[in-house]
Amino acid sequence: MQSAERRVNETLRLLPITSLFVLATILAGCNAERRKSDAELGLNPQQIAGRKIYDNYCDRCHEPYSTSGKQGPPLKGVFTKPYLPLSGLPANDERVGEIIRFGRSKMPGFGQALSDKQVRDLLVYMHTL
Ligand code: HEC
Repeated sequence: MQSAERRVNETLRLLPITSLFVLATILAGCNAERRKSDAELGLNPQQIAGRKIYDNYCDRCHEPYSTSGKQGPPLKGVFTKPYLPLSGLPANDERVGEIIRFGRSKMPGFGQALSDKQVRDLLVYMHTL
C-alpha cells in the first residue's frame, strides 16, 4: 500500500516536467515550416520541373523560402533585387546561370550534372522565389 502511494507521489512530482516537455515538443512542431505543395505555390509545369532540380541540387546549401543561411546564402527573392546580395553581380539569368554552371568559391559547378534545359527550368523556378 505504501509503495503504491509512493509511486503516485512520484508520478505527480514528474507531471509538471512531463507536461512542459510535451508543450515544448508541440511548439517546436508548430515552428517548423510546412513544405508547400507545387499547387499551393501556383507553379506551372516548367517551374515544377525546376523545383525538382532545386530540391536535388541546391536545397542542401540554399534556403528557397526563408532568409536563414545554410552553407550558402538564402535564395529567397534572388531575382527581386537588381544585384545578388553576396557577390554583387547583376541578378539576371546570364550571371546566375554562370554561377550554376561554373560554381563560385565554395560552391561547386553543375555544368556537368545539368543540361541546358535543366538550367533553364531551374532559373524559371528561381524567378518564383
Ligand atoms: C555545397 C553547397 C552548395 C550547393 C550544393 C549550391 N550552392 Fe550556391 N552557393 C554556395 C556558396 C557557399 C555560395 C557563396 C559563394 C561565394 O562566396 O561567392 C553560393 C552562391 C550562390 C549564388 C550567388 C549568391 C550571391 O549572392 O552572390 C547563387 C545564385 C547560387 N549559389 C545558386 C545555387 C543554385 C541554383 C544551386 C543548385 C544548382 C546551388 N547554388 C548549389 C553553396 C552551394
